[in-house]
Amino acid sequence: MNAKIQEYSSLIEENLYRYFKVALPQYETLFESMEYSVKNGGKRVRPLLTLLFYNAYGKGDVLKAMPMAEAVEFIHTYSLIHDDLPCMDNDDYRRGKPSNHKVYGEAIALLAGDGLLTAAFERISSWSLAGLYDAETAIKAINELSVYAGSRGMIGGQIIDIANENNPDADYETLQLMDNLKTGCLISVACALGCIVAGASDDLIDAAKTFGEKLGLAFQIKDDILDVTSSLEKLGKMTGSDKDNNKSTYVTLLGIEKCEELVKQLTNEALESLSAFPNNELIKEYAGYLANREY
Ligand code: IPE
Ligand code: IPE
Ligand code: MG
Ligand code: MG
Ligand code: MG
Repeated sequence: MNAKIQEYSSLIEENLYRYFKVALPQYETLFESMEYSVKNGGKRVRPLLTLLFYNAYGKGDVLKAMPMAEAVEFIHTYSLIHDDLPCMDNDDYRRGKPSNHKVYGEAIALLAGDGLLTAAFERISSWSLAGLYDAETAIKAINELSVYAGSRGMIGGQIIDIANENNPDADYETLQLMDNLKTGCLISVACALGCIVAGASDDLIDAAKTFGEKLGLAFQIKDDILDVTSSLEKLGKMTGSDKDNNKSTYVTLLGIEKCEELVKQLTNEALESLSAFPNNELIKEYAGYLANREY
């Protein structure tokens, strides 16, 4: 992996855990369980994209975009904690260790997710109040993030996913909408947030979103492939989960080979929207890495 991307990954790791250091004694278990799921093992795809897009357009210290990066990773982690619950995908492993509810129980897992979701907006607004960026930037970021992570975005996708369990007739359009929403939206807004904090124009923010939409769809199709072809050791989560839950996915509809092709095609389409960014080499490299990932 490119040294600059590695440097950004380390910066993200350093900054992600700060939030958990100020737990009130009465809430210690809650903070511990939030930190447990955020800590280690995640690929940090979304916060990296935030920093890479800031770098592609912005000038100066990438730390200015860190609250946005933290916020997206908090929301992503909350979505995983809830996604693993018995009432959802009922998965016992995540990021190479037992899922949150297996360690802390369902009630705390639910609340840890709630805590992380709200912490995301606390992060973005607090750093604006502290003077890192102006209030208009913060409002725009909060607005985009809440739309893309909410019922019109990621949560909308999760409900389509649940509604189509045990439905072998789910068609291409339904699956595309589901994946665009449940995975594409958060990846899209992660890219957009990097541009927003860099002060980019609406056209560039839209280009970043288009990139994220294509890359996000490719990412979810790859996730569905790996659910069939990989292992718990490599992936850090149970494989065969989609089959166990009778999920309809691109893989069940089109087969592995066609899906591998689609991942490549969508990644190439994503790259086409990068031409307006002056400094897009690192993003290109990272997109190629994701298309070929094995976990
Ligand atoms: C898993 O996301 C859930 C999907 C949306 C496919 P990641 O594969 O990014 O999970 P982590 O963050 O690396 O654990
Ligand atoms: C998860 O999709 C999407 C969200 C959490 C929003 P999956 O259910 O396929 O993710 P994994 O395979 O459990 O990581
Ligand atoms: Mg799921
Ligand atoms: Mg799942
Ligand atoms: Mg999956």
